[in-house]
Amino acid sequence: MSVIKTFYDTMPDGREVYQYTIENTNGIKVGILTRGATLNSFVCPDKDGEMGDILMGFDSLAGHLSTTTYAGEIIGQYANRLCGGKFTVGGKEYQATKNENGTTCLHGGGEYNSALWRAIITDDNAVEFAYHSPDGVEGFPGNVDMTVKYVLTEHGELEIHYCAVSDKETIMNFTNHAYFNLTAGKRDVLAHELQINADCYTPTDALSIPTGEKRPVDGTAFDFRIAKPIGRDITADDEQLIQCRGYDHNFCLNGENGKLRLAAEAKDPDSGRRLQVFTDLPGMQLYTGNFLDGSEIGKGGAPLTKHAGFCLETQFYPDTPNHPDFPQCTFKAGEKFESLTIFKV
Ligand code: BGC
Repeated sequence: MSVIKTFYDTMPDGREVYQYTIENTNGIKVGILTRGATLNSFVCPDKDGEMGDILMGFDSLAGHLSTTTYAGEIIGQYANRLCGGKFTVGGKEYQATKNENGTTCLHGGGEYNSALWRAIITDDNAVEFAYHSPDGVEGFPGNVDMTVKYVLTEHGELEIHYCAVSDKETIMNFTNHAYFNLTAGKRDVLAHELQINADCYTPTDALSIPTGEKRPVDGTAFDFRIAKPIGRDITADDEQLIQCRGYDHNFCLNGENGKLRLAAEAKDPDSGRRLQVFTDLPGMQLYTGNFLDGSEIGKGGAPLTKHAGFCLETQFYPDTPNHPDFPQCTFKAGEKFESLTIFKV
């Protein structure tokens, strides 16, 4: 196992961005940038042993800085959406930045994912990234000290350990926004076979805010309990799919919140590559890159077109603070947010 640190590029304000590359003895390797603690590459073999990068993303810092995709970035302080950017903590109403069409708060307003994180190599297969979020940034209360540790194992598991503590009661919901493409960018992801361990999902209104319903997937296009190609039902006559131009929904994961369990598995029949996702969080957003329109240029100069990648964003449900019956993500001052997600190839 090895970790190397390399200079990546310089930010417009002169700060230097580094990449940490962790490699196991089978040649599986991940690259992580200090900007956004971004998962930048994930190289693994196909069925013939040919190595390929299964992450949609960019070849340059300029691509990362200008993108609206959040590709590979660590999202905080509240991943996904907050209705009207509003939430109440300790009886006090807070207003977070409404960065989505001036109406909703999406992905915490963009603070954590665009920050430059400090990094330390903690083992021959692990790098820990740290960020301090000052009280009130993007409207979120509390000075938050956060670490995200990436660990790559000999078994092809990429562990992402999240740990955060605030000095005031606050809401916290973190995720990694990686887009996977197991063909290594050869074609779109519609033929990938996907299985999700969820009996219910949270349908949304026209602004992609959960209505509050936990709708059974049974008999709907959202039933991934038995593996099926992502593209099989994506154009079904379902108002939820039409409204979001595909899947862009939170699945209520089966099993106990707080316990690590298999959430999803994806396979690309052509390359034979497989991805498993484990998490201890209650939800996972399946986003099938519906809004990618070719206007951004990704790795190898290829335009990022619709369904060029899919995300499995492990998380608390969207807009949780405004839905008392969802598993809650309000943390007291000094109370630790701790969570683990594993992407296994
Ligand atoms: C959201 C999508 C959004 C994408 C990129 C996803 O997490 O659910 O609606 O387009 O992030 O911003």
